Amino acid sequence: KISYYNGEFLDDDKISVNYNDRAVYFGDGVYEVVRIYDNEIFTFEEHLDRLVQSAKEIRIDIDKEEIREIMIQMKDKNKLPNAALYIQVSRGIEGRTHLFPEKGVQPVVLSFINKVDRPIDAMRDGVKAVTRDDYRWLKCHIKSLNLLSNTLLKQEAKDSGATEAILHRDGVVTEGTSTNVFAIRDGVLHTHEANNFVLNGITRQYVIKLAKSLDIPVKEKAFTVDFLKEADEVFITSTTQEITPVISVDDEKIGDGVSGEITRKLQKAFEAGI
Ligand code: PDD
Repeated sequence: KISYYNGEFLDDDKISVNYNDRAVYFGDGVYEVVRIYDNEIFTFEEHLDRLVQSAKEIRIDIDKEEIREIMIQMKDKNKLPNAALYIQVSRGIEGRTHLFPEKGVQPVVLSFINKVDRPIDAMRDGVKAVTRDDYRWLKCHIKSLNLLSNTLLKQEAKDSGATEAILHRDGVVTEGTSTNVFAIRDGVLHTHEANNFVLNGITRQYVIKLAKSLDIPVKEKAFTVDFLKEADEVFITSTTQEITPVISVDDEKIGDGVSGEITRKLQKAFEAGI
């Protein structure tokens, strides 16, 4: 497998990351995960734009065309028709100091790829979720490398026998630790508005478009944990998890406790688009 670090494509086991890379000790950077289906990068432009935007939000200037080229080369060199491609950009390499590096220090790109299959079982059978307090920072719209809260909370979900932790601020649902959350009630699709409390998922945006094309009304407005638990259907979305039904929340059944009809309709439309 070929990976990329700081200007070079190398065999995966030949890559060594500089310990003075600000990604290492500060998590000072941003990232994207894209899905490759049948040798094509799905929603490529949207991911590129979001990476540039995330970087801009933390005052890193990146060249979108350079990133595009690295990602295309990663895909072509590795020849994995179905894969997840990771790319991160850090502020650069310099001795540890909180202040930004001196002028002239360039952002550093790291990229690797893994063969990934579609999560067929989870998409058919659904997964369990638990709710947790969303104690993350207030800039969740930035796809930052700092994922400590997300990893702690995801592990708590696993320790409770669930797949995802659905986060809430004072009872208002935001998103999952690595997914956006949707609830369907009386035929209307609800999800948190795209603001600083959630990552505006590319899958989220794609699903909203699909819903509109299928004449499913969409309401981008925050809802409560109580609303979530009383929903007819709930699902989570992400680049790797696509549209995965949630069949219980805190061990309380959602609807009939199986994947719902509108969820399946959206999954079908999604599959037709990839
Ligand atoms: N996670 N919310 C959070 C906090 C996320 O980390 C992600 C993605 C999403 C969904 O975004 P998208 O549809 O663009 O993948 C929502 C990626 C996949 C990850 O960290 O692995």
